[in-house]
Amino acid sequence: MKVFIQTLGCAMNERDSEHMLAELESKEGYELTADSSEADLILINTCSVREKPERRLFSEIGQYAQAKKQGAKIGVCGCTASHMGGEILRKSPHVDFVLGARNISKITQIIHKPKAVEVDLDYDDSLYAFEGVRSSGVKALLNISIGCDKSCAYCIVPHTRGKEISIPLDLILAEARKLAQNGIKELLLLGQNVNNYGVRFSTEHAPIDFTGLLRELERVEGIRRIRFTSPHPLHMDDEFLHEFARNTKVCKSIHIPLQSGSSKILKSMRRGYSKEWFLNRVEKLKSLVPDVGISTDIIVGFCGESDEDFAHTLDVLEQVRFDTLYSFIYSPRPHTRAFDFDKSLSVPKDIAQKRLSQLQERHREILREKAQADIGKEYEVLVENVFSDERGCFSEGRSDNNRLIHIDGRKLDLGEFARVRVMRNEGGSLFGEVVG
Ligand code: 5AD
Ligand code: SF4
Repeated sequence: MKVFIQTLGCAMNERDSEHMLAELESKEGYELTADSSEADLILINTCSVREKPERRLFSEIGQYAQAKKQGAKIGVCGCTASHMGGEILRKSPHVDFVLGARNISKITQIIHKPKAVEVDLDYDDSLYAFEGVRSSGVKALLNISIGCDKSCAYCIVPHTRGKEISIPLDLILAEARKLAQNGIKELLLLGQNVNNYGVRFSTEHAPIDFTGLLRELERVEGIRRIRFTSPHPLHMDDEFLHEFARNTKVCKSIHIPLQSGSSKILKSMRRGYSKEWFLNRVEKLKSLVPDVGISTDIIVGFCGESDEDFAHTLDVLEQVRFDTLYSFIYSPRPHTRAFDFDKSLSVPKDIAQKRLSQLQERHREILREKAQADIGKEYEVLVENVFSDERGCFSEGRSDNNRLIHIDGRKLDLGEFARVRVMRNEGGSLFGEVVG
């Protein structure tokens, strides 16, 4: 039996897809295929954070249904499954089951229940044993919490993934050790709000916070690097920043989702911090870790965003000079507070589009300047991909602060660490050579 999985959305969804595959392999004897037309089971692991991919879902289902093998099943999983539930079955006769993001561990049961819908938001998978499938032999995704307790006005995720529960420390450590034994060098800790770790467990648990978890993971032999996504700026207290700087295994790159640079908009987004707090945290971080890499998420065109508000966002971009920017036009989502905001606050599409282009254009310039400034610098790179063609062998990997560097002229092995000097910058892509 073969399964095809299409994964949309974030790293959490990627991990959920690995998890479903592991379950299907070990309990039902499935193997993965990259060709949906030969699959016995087609899973679409959906994202609902913005409207557009969701709108495309039904035409995609139609395409899979047309090309699928006779008798093959189609399941819609993930965040859109959570919030649309049974409506998906009503809208598309091709769908055999609907499995919400919080219910992923029930995959081997639901495939045997025709037209079943499992979208229970109170379902607790936090004690669920991890399974072995990992897409990479070098890096592994590792869940540390499920759900989200925040109520950001634009965000549907608390509705699709339910309330926040932390995964017990011993389960996380056991999994990290197992991964290290299997040759994994780098962990990416996953949670909707990682630095709120320890806020609630579903069983008795000794008190621990995210800083404590990082200290425990630092001791796991064989793991050389630890990354995490996403932390919340609100919970970036001094203790967290000092641990980030001190911890010998925590990579010096961090995702700090800004969302908006305007304190007024941050307030109506219910983010819990101001422009000043965000800048203060970044300043403190840069003073502790001068070469830190910072990525962010920004939404433009949120309800009530004026030119002046947007100018604050540009100002934060200018001051922080993010290394990676994920930027979006605000997309109203059902089950969110902002969905019911007064329509007079809506920002016209063309204005939002102009702001997005302006933001992205300025960021591209910053990146060009940054890439140029990287020339001559040396980084320790973990080799994540190795390619060979008629011209020879190439590899690529990431520095501690998350620069992607292409390495010429030397055969390196997957999972190897190499000291690399950046030699040139081609349109923002960095090329380096191994030194020493
Ligand atoms: N519209 C646009 N972008 C959104 N995001 C979350 N909800 C919305 C929305 N309704 C963005 C945020 C978040 C990222 C994962 O997606 O920037 O950090
Ligand atoms: Fe991930 Fe959010 Fe999309 Fe769900 S809605 S897949 S949590 S980005």
